[in-house]
Amino acid sequence: METAANDDVPVKEIFPELTRDVIDRMKNAGNPRLREVLALVVRHVHAIVREAEITHDEWWLAIDFLTRAGKMCSENRQEFILLSDILGVSMLVDAIDHVGGPGLSESTVLGPFYAGQQRELLAGDSILLRDEDSDPLEMHGRVTDSHGRPIAEAVVEVWQTAPNQLYDVQDKDQPEGHLRGTFRTDATGAFRFRTILPVSYPIPNDGPAGQLLAAMGRHPFRPAHIHFMIGAPGYRTLVTHLFLDGDEYLASDAVFGVKPSLVIRPGLVGGVNTLEYHFGLAEEQVSTRAQVEALRRKHPE
Ligand code: BEZ
Ligand code: FE
Repeated sequence: METAANDDVPVKEIFPELTRDVIDRMKNAGNPRLREVLALVVRHVHAIVREAEITHDEWWLAIDFLTRAGKMCSENRQEFILLSDILGVSMLVDAIDHVGGPGLSESTVLGPFYAGQQRELLAGDSILLRDEDSDPLEMHGRVTDSHGRPIAEAVVEVWQTAPNQLYDVQDKDQPEGHLRGTFRTDATGAFRFRTILPVSYPIPNDGPAGQLLAAMGRHPFRPAHIHFMIGAPGYRTLVTHLFLDGDEYLASDAVFGVKPSLVIRPGLVGGVNTLEYHFGLAEEQVSTRAQVEALRRKHPE
C-alpha cells in the first residue's frame, strides 16, 4: 500500500482531522444550507486531493487555470458557465431542479448568450435585423399548461446565432438584437415568428474552457438550435431549445444539452421550412425534487 511521506498512513487516509476541523469550524455559520453545501464541497475536494495524490505543481496548475478563467469573464463572456456546461454540471442541475411530467416540455441549458430584455415583436414578425443568405424558417406553436389548456399572454423569448456561427453579442458587425425577439401568445396560446434555419456552432473555445475541451480530446460544437425562454404568471419559466433533426453534433453536444423530445424536423409548407412545437409549462406550485428535499430538511420526521 502506498504511504504518505514520513509515516505509515496510506495517502488516501491521510490527515482526516484536517477535513473534520475545516467542517467543524463552520458550525456558527448563519445559513444552514450554505453550511451543508460547503461541508460537502470541503469533503469532496479533500477526497479528490487525497485520491489523486495532488502535487504542489498540479495544485498550482489548477489555481492558475481558475485565475485565467476569472480574468476571461466580462459583460459578454462567462467562462465559469462554459466550464459548468462542458463538465455536465449545468445539465445535472437542470435534471435535479426541474419539473417534469405529462404535458410538460423538457428544459435544457440557458447558455451564456441570453442577453436580457430584448425587443417585443408582433406575431409573424421576423427576428432578423439584416438579410442573411440562409434558408427561411417559419416557427409557430402553442404554450399550454400541463392539461393542454392555452396560456394567453405568455412571454416567448427566442434567440439564435447568425449563419456565421456567432450571436449578436459576440459579433460587433451584427446589429444589436439581430436574431432575437420577444413574442406574446394570443388567447389560444399561439405564437409565431419568422427566422432562418439555425446552424451548428462552436462554443467560445479561445480560453480555459476551450483548453480543457482540447485536453479532454473533445470538440467544441453544439448542434443547430433555437433558444426559448417562456414565462407566464403562475408558471415556472421554461428554459429550453429546439434542435434540428439530422445535425451531425446531436450525439456529441459539447454541453450535453440535447434531449430527444427537443429534436424536431422542419416540414415544408408552401415551399417554406416550417417548425411547429407545443410547449407545456408547469404550474408554479408544483414542487421540484430539490424543493421537496429542502422541506424535508426543514421539517425532519
Ligand atoms: C448556447 O447554446 O448558446 C451555449 C450553451 C452553452 C455554452 C455555450 C453556448
Ligand atoms: Fe446556443
